[in-house]
Amino acid sequence: MPLRRSKALVKWIYENQHKMQTLRRCSSTLRYKELEESSVPSLEPVAEVAPAHEPATKPRPQLTPDISFKFDDLQVTLAAPYQLQKKPEAIDLGFGKYFTDHMMKINYHRELGGWQKPEISPFEHLSLHPAAKALHYAVQLFEGLKAYRGVDDKIRLFRPDLNMQRMNLAAQRSGLPMFDGEELIKCITRLVQIDQEWVPHSETSTLYIRPTLIGTEPTFGIIEPESALLFVILSPVSAYYKTNSDGAVSIYADPNVVRAFPGGVGNRKVGSNYGPTIEITSRAAKLGHQQVLWLFGPNHELTEVGAMNIFVVYINEDGDKQLSTPPLNGLILPGVTRRSILELAGEWKELTVKEEVLTMQRIADLNQQGRLLEMFGAGTAVVVTPISNVGYLDTNIPVPTMQQHNPVYQRLKDTLLAIQYGHIEHPFAKVIT
Ligand code: COI
Repeated sequence: MPLRRSKALVKWIYENQHKMQTLRRCSSTLRYKELEESSVPSLEPVAEVAPAHEPATKPRPQLTPDISFKFDDLQVTLAAPYQLQKKPEAIDLGFGKYFTDHMMKINYHRELGGWQKPEISPFEHLSLHPAAKALHYAVQLFEGLKAYRGVDDKIRLFRPDLNMQRMNLAAQRSGLPMFDGEELIKCITRLVQIDQEWVPHSETSTLYIRPTLIGTEPTFGIIEPESALLFVILSPVSAYYKTNSDGAVSIYADPNVVRAFPGGVGNRKVGSNYGPTIEITSRAAKLGHQQVLWLFGPNHELTEVGAMNIFVVYINEDGDKQLSTPPLNGLILPGVTRRSILELAGEWKELTVKEEVLTMQRIADLNQQGRLLEMFGAGTAVVVTPISNVGYLDTNIPVPTMQQHNPVYQRLKDTLLAIQYGHIEHPFAKVIT
């Protein structure tokens, strides 16, 4: 083709490409080849409207084991030696900064019958369509659990069945596909076994496991996604929070900002509960506090602290030492650590354990009467973190957590760590290697 004609054609294509629906719809080399061979591309946009009688989405099948993915279908591609990364020093770990050599992915495509085969592959970036619902409407959820290298060098998970239950509840609430939690535990176990050298040889660090489920369907409708991706990544971690020199944190309560509300998703582990907490956490930091205490309602009820459940220890009206945490009223994440603390402490004779509503007035009164003993946060990432001060309405309420002799928070933390690192045999710990 003479140069002038070909330049004119290129210019024409450049100016008219927005009309060339057929061309725009083709992404593969093969399709481009077909186009090159065809005579004149159609300039008419192709309408992509479904027939009126077709429902927008097909009814979602119920969760039954036969539609879940299966561990038996797991396909493993190991990283080549050149893809293996150098492991960071324990001192540099921080929280969620480094990732292991492998990851797991399980695709869901409704039109292909739902869940596809689980795959373990070398760690890689995801490729997502920019219209994926997860990116626009936070159609997303996640979990957090840990693998611990025990004193006997065996690797343990801590109550992973509870993470799976919670993940399925969040999936149900988010319009994402559910699955058989036992099958995911088996797949995660295999992933951790493959990357087992990434489980730190230390009792101050662990391997954090982050299963995540996202809606990948690339359409703007706010409806159940027809496609989704469940992926699991692993990160060797040490402490989540920076604490004060005494190991405790100061927390900041602003009653004007809430984390959750009745009928919302405060009780589900979805990313949309966490992103909006960043601004106030930065504000708290500027005021000298490490975390935010989440209040709710006209009585300023305590709900959670940072990304943790909150606990208070005080002397009750009967003169007994009481451990209390707010009840699961829809605003509170049903934490695995929270539940374990209630169950473990419930067996200790010398402590009354209660789920009860706690208001800021009650905390201030207990403090004034010298009956407030301890406050602490608890969660998978932090285990148990003592609280030494609450900033509230231009005042500071000092909490004498760090002044207690044999504090409850320390006994709980020690017990949890002893189970997790295999110092004591306990049904909460599941040995996987
Ligand atoms: C966890 O404790 O696993 C959490 O959810 C904290 C995480 C959001 C950093």
